[in-house]
Amino acid sequence: MELYEAIANRRSVRRYRPEAVPEEVLARVLEAGRRAPSGHNRQPWRFVVVREESRRRALAEAAASHNGFIAEAPVVLAFLGLLAYENAPAPAARTRGSWTWDMYIRYNVSIAGAYVTLAAAAEGLGTCWINNYDEERVRALLKIPEEYALVCLMPLGYAAEEPKAKPRLPLAELCFDEEVTAGGDG
Ligand SMILES: Cc1cc2nc3c(=O)[nH]c(=O)nc-3n(C[C@H](O)[C@H](O)[C@H](O)COP(=O)(O)O)c2cc1C
Repeated sequence: MELYEAIANRRSVRRYRPEAVPEEVLARVLEAGRRAPSGHNRQPWRFVVVREESRRRALAEAAASHNGFIAEAPVVLAFLGLLAYENAPAPAARTRGSWTWDMYIRYNVSIAGAYVTLAAAAEGLGTCWINNYDEERVRALLKIPEEYALVCLMPLGYAAEEPKAKPRLPLAELCFDEEVTAGGDG
């Protein structure tokens, strides 16, 4: 599938068929995440691939009730951000302007997550970005040490629904010309 088509066709999928995702397809999707850009090419993303049914169910239970569908997907990915590096700034230097080191790592990881959603769409797979869960329970289930931020969970599988496209703001409303104008006429 062509890139623009994948961007246009991607949906958040909340119903999944039980068919497994072939390992070579999963590898291609993760490869897309691996190729994402990152500050200083630090590549702080780490992916946890959860296939075991009992663990997926436990993750679903740790998620907010409206996110229970994640157990239906044959794969659930957890996106982690490595916070501790040999060359990472000292804790006191971990803010710059309005952002913190934790935020910075998280948005690097989010780029990899976005790449994964698009590669999955190109492979005919559905995904859904999941941010609403009991973090401590998820961390315990996946044995995530403190030096990793938990950025999101993401079910991955073949869709059992055809979600309609959600509306987006028109470009004219969200794009400023040269400078930001009061009222945001774009
Ligand atoms: C940061 C982020 C957090 C999200 N958290 C959840 C979530 O916890 N549960 C859920 O069902 N969808 C979640 N979503 C999916 C959004 O609801 C969805 O992307 C949005 O409604 C637009 O729909 P679309 O992805 O189908 O275009 C999240 C998306 C993002 C980017």
